[in-house]
Parts: sequence; C-alpha cells; structure tokens
Amino acid sequence: MLKVGKGANAPPFIVMDVIAAANARQAALPPNAPSVIRMEVGQPGTGAPAGAVAAAMAALRSGDALGYTEAFGRRSLRERIVGHYRDWYGLDVPLERIAVTVGASGGFPLAFLAAFDPGDRVALTSPFYPPYVNILTALGIQPVILEAGPETRFQPSVAMLEKLDPPPDGLIVASPCNPAGTMLHPDELSLLAAWCDGAGVRLISDEIYHGLNYDSPITTAASLSPHAVVVNSFSKYFAMTGWRVGWLVLPEDLTRSVERLAQNLFISAPYISQVVAEASFDCHDELRANIARYRRSRDHLLQALPEAGFTRLSPAEGAFYLFADIAERSNHSTAFCARMLAEVGIAVTPGVDFDHSRGNRFLRFSYCGPEEDMREAAARLKDWR
Ligand SMILES: Cc1ncc(COP(=O)(O)O)c(C=O)c1O
Repeated sequence: MLKVGKGANAPPFIVMDVIAAANARQAALPPNAPSVIRMEVGQPGTGAPAGAVAAAMAALRSGDALGYTEAFGRRSLRERIVGHYRDWYGLDVPLERIAVTVGASGGFPLAFLAAFDPGDRVALTSPFYPPYVNILTALGIQPVILEAGPETRFQPSVAMLEKLDPPPDGLIVASPCNPAGTMLHPDELSLLAAWCDGAGVRLISDEIYHGLNYDSPITTAASLSPHAVVVNSFSKYFAMTGWRVGWLVLPEDLTRSVERLAQNLFISAPYISQVVAEASFDCHDELRANIARYRRSRDHLLQALPEAGFTRLSPAEGAFYLFADIAERSNHSTAFCARMLAEVGIAVTPGVDFDHSRGNRFLRFSYCGPEEDMREAAARLKDWR
C-alpha cells in the first residue's frame, strides 16, 4: 500500500458541512416556503465595498496582464497597509515587514512554518477557530489546548500559561475572537505579549476582526512586541471574503524566511484582489455602515435570544458571533442544530467544531447576515423549544 502522509488526516472544518446541509434544505423547500436563515457562516452579508469593485472593473478593462506580483504583494498595497497601522494604531511599521497573503488562511501556514518545527508545542484556548488546530496538526506541530470559560471571556490569561511546564513554543491569540466574539482588552493583550517575550514564546495574534469591535478599543500585538506575528485579512471588516487577500505583519527575524516560503507556496496573492484591497482603504464610510448594521443585529439578538431560551450567551464584544451555552437544553449540539435547521429553518454551527471536549453544549450564532433575517431568526426561535 502506498504511504499517505499524516497531514492527510487533517479533520474537516465542520461549518463547511453545515453550509452544505443548509444549502440542501433550501434546495428542497417548496417555492413559496420561508427561506433558510443563514447564521452558520462568518461571512459578511454584503460584498466588497462599491469603490473597491469599481477599482476591480477598471483593472480588468485596463489591458494590464494582471500577472504575478512580488511574493509580499504590490508595493502600493503594502504602503496602504503601512498607512493603516499609522491611522488606526498610531504605529509606524516598516514596509519590509508587511506581507500580503492569500487571506488570513494563507498567512497561517507561512507563519507556523517559519516560526515552529514539527514537534513544537503551540498553546491556544478552546473554543478556537478550527483551522488553527487543524493546520498545526497537519504540519506536525502539537496544539496545547487551554480550556477557557466565561471567567476569562473565553480568552487566555497569563495564569493559564504559567501552569504549562515546560512553556509552549508559541501562543495563538485572537481578539475579537471566533467563535465567542469576545476580546482581549489592551491591558490583557499587553500582559500576554510581555509574558511571551519574557518566556521566549512566539506570539501569533489573529487580528482579522479588528474594526468589528463594539465597546472595547483594539490594540495590535505589533505595537506590544517586536517578536509577534500579526495575521490580518480583508475578509471581515473589509467584507471581501471571496477575493482571498490578507496580510501579515512580521517580526524582523522571520521576514526573509516567510518571503521564501511565500515564493514557493503561493508565488503571490491574486493581482486583481490586491487592487481591490488597496481601493478598499478608501471605503471606510461604507464599511462603517456595515458595522452599524451588525451592532443593531447584535443588540436585537442579545435582547431576543434570552427570551427564546438562550440565556447563557458570551459577551458579544466584537466580530459577529454569539456563543451560546445550551447545556440546559441539550448535550448534543450537532443534533440540536440539525433539529433547529429542520424545524425552524435556521442554520447555526454546533460547538463541536470549536471545542473538542465541551463543544457539545455550545453553539455559535453568526449575525452578519441581512438585518431583517436576523430579526426573523429571533422571531422564529421565540416559540421553538
Ligand atoms: C478567526 C479567523 N481567522 C481567520 C479566518 C480566515 O479568514 P480568511 O478569509 O482571511 O482566510 C477566519 C474566517 O472565518 C476567522 O474567523
């Protein structure tokens, strides 16, 4: 029998299976039946902002070859990203440390391969964004799971890290995070960054939901540690999921190795997407209107879901997720979510995707869909038990 690599055992990203089930249910509905409400995906209901789409059309008509770019992306886009750090965080990041990637997803293998070796241990809290664990595992790196709960808003703390003996080689944090929608407040992220630097632990900070924070301010790990790797993307605040473009802010010691990896693994992010990304920096008004919509949906759900029996919700500080503890209603979140889809036509994601040991008592609502759908979902759930 031919050998099959261990990486081939990477588990599925279960939300993709939920998407398929919701599509199948929608396709099977009679023509005038109420549609399935999509609360399973973390994908903005709107597409790229209008100004960015216009830039894409102009690029397509220009006759340019739209070929490869340098592995770290077009200089003009990297300059805009440098400007973004100045505008949002008051931070000067040298252009050499900015790498444009194929979404945040394309940034993870680059960061993990450059920073860690097979057998290294990388800590992260559960619940987590599933690909962190799945990519680490596929690369032979060992995820070290720190179980977090409402006491730390599902976020890591220095106390949790100090219990690890030996200390891990790396720590992944995300703020705002997926699936809990909670944040590390600036003082908390600062303590974690200082602990990592003191212990020689590489901090990887997923900042993809920056800009989608409702009450608490954001801070970037790039301003707290020269050794941190920051992962970001145009998929969420910039609402450009399908364009597949993101970026890394790299520490100096990893810059060249990530560039070599990017040359070999991806050559470059798609040219057209880089054009669109660049133009999206001029579309903040439109993007802020999206946030106002998410905030209204969040506020409505925070009031309506408890009335519908979802009383234990994570504090919804950012992103567009509500993580619900459903222990009082079910100890089998996959079956519970399947029943919700079948009986009231609402697709949500079972917690097992995000937490392998406790996930059966949680589910995740995503509220980035159309505002009227989010209100309709709350109404459908009101009398559903
Ligand atoms: C926390 C987190 N990181 C990364 C990603 C991947 O984003 P991208 O579309 O930029 O690859 C997602 C997507 O949902 C996410 O929730």
